[in-house]
Amino acid sequence: MPAAKPKYLINTFGCQMNEHDSEKIAGLLEAMGYQPAGDREEADLILFNTCSVRDNPERKVYGQVAGLKGLKQRKPDLKIGICGCMVQQPEELAGIKAKLPQVDLVFGTHNIHELPELLQKVAVGEGPVIAVEEDSEEIVEGVPVRRESRLKAWVNITYGCNNFCTYCIVPYVRGREKSRDPEQILAEVTALGEDGCKEITLLGQNVNSYGRDLPADRRVDFADLLRRLNPVPGIERIRFTTSHPKDLSDKMISAMKELDKVCEHLHLPLQAGGNRILQRMNRGYTAEMYLELVGKLRQAIPEISLTTDLIVGFPGETEEDFEETLRVVREVRYDGAFTFIYSPRKGTPAAGMPDQVPEDVKRERIYRLIELQQGISREKNEEYDGQTVEVLVEGGSKTDPEILTGRTRTNKLVHFAGDPALTGELVRVKITNVHTWSLFGNLVDAGV
Ligand code: SAH
Ligand code: SF4
Ligand code: F3S
Repeated sequence: MPAAKPKYLINTFGCQMNEHDSEKIAGLLEAMGYQPAGDREEADLILFNTCSVRDNPERKVYGQVAGLKGLKQRKPDLKIGICGCMVQQPEELAGIKAKLPQVDLVFGTHNIHELPELLQKVAVGEGPVIAVEEDSEEIVEGVPVRRESRLKAWVNITYGCNNFCTYCIVPYVRGREKSRDPEQILAEVTALGEDGCKEITLLGQNVNSYGRDLPADRRVDFADLLRRLNPVPGIERIRFTTSHPKDLSDKMISAMKELDKVCEHLHLPLQAGGNRILQRMNRGYTAEMYLELVGKLRQAIPEISLTTDLIVGFPGETEEDFEETLRVVREVRYDGAFTFIYSPRKGTPAAGMPDQVPEDVKRERIYRLIELQQGISREKNEEYDGQTVEVLVEGGSKTDPEILTGRTRTNKLVHFAGDPALTGELVRVKITNVHTWSLFGNLVDAGV
């Protein structure tokens, strides 16, 4: 009888970039003969793909890995690995080595493709095996991907970031910005379309600066890239994240307006509404510039939904500064916002600023911000009541397969009754009931 296949489990923290890296890690493992484990008890290999953007996800990793001690004692063959953004920080790497002796493997964000060789080394008892590259010169192509969904796919277009917002760790852990070759992107999206994928989300820390580092003979900018991807057969919807306001060009807005597959949704992080704080954050725009952009976007694409990221309690933020954030939020009227309490990150300029805001003030501000935004989100959803919208059906709910779920082009979650066989189809749904986070409706016709 052949030996049972080894089983793996990946715990992913952080952003879409990490989610997609985990799909590559899973792809590499499955190419090596691994299969997914149902739970920790069953796993032969447990990996933690970590995030450093705030303190909370880092602390969770220490807690969870420490919690595996008992399992490792019972199953001495269990291998534990840590990868992702945390290990790219020399201090965290040292902390992992010192505090988590049960870890067998550590690999960085630029070493994912080396996983098969690294696991070989672990297998022959060379552990703990550590491979962490500070940055990489070039992009490694051809890594197999095991996608979570057949219908929707993430596609990397840039890696790293050059912006150095003063609060942010990402440029330190992900290295300098590198654009992927447009031909490689087109080839991946074409293959996805042939394989039944309906929606792609292009990923980059700042998609709007795509292409700036490409060689002159192959240089295309983000708007050009969208134009090249729009005709790909099979793909019905194109999304992207994240757009930095300072690099959102008129050319990009025209491309969004003209290209039929590019969805009417933009995630445009504001971070703060006061100019003094924006400047201290090194964001490269003022509240006025941001509001002007929103005006242009709404004029070009009136139905566009806008979402954002907001940080409260950045060093030096006064009550007046915070009220500027509330003011911009009221003026823009976002469909949704991710709100964060500022978390000092070692080695970033903001962590060393003297006027840190007390925790209780930060907490009080985030509650006020969340309350304001929830009311606006609800009102924005109410605008959909009675409207008929296009929904890409993603499947039935776990509790009732005949209650289908999908998203509008504007990225609103919609629930409605229908045949699970409609999964993967574009349908029309009339909205009859709205909640703060989702819409409910009735199927009008299947097949748009
Ligand atoms: N590149 C993207 C996303 C970066 S991380 C962008 O520029 O928008 C996602 C979000 O985490 C950021 O937009 C920011 O709102 C938040 N964030 C980053 N660093 C943070 C910190 N130190 N404390 C709290 N929130 C932070
Ligand atoms: Fe961080 Fe700013 Fe880069 Fe976004 S643009 S990843 S917030 S440094
Ligand atoms: Fe993403 Fe967190 Fe790394 S937000 S890039 S996983 S630090």
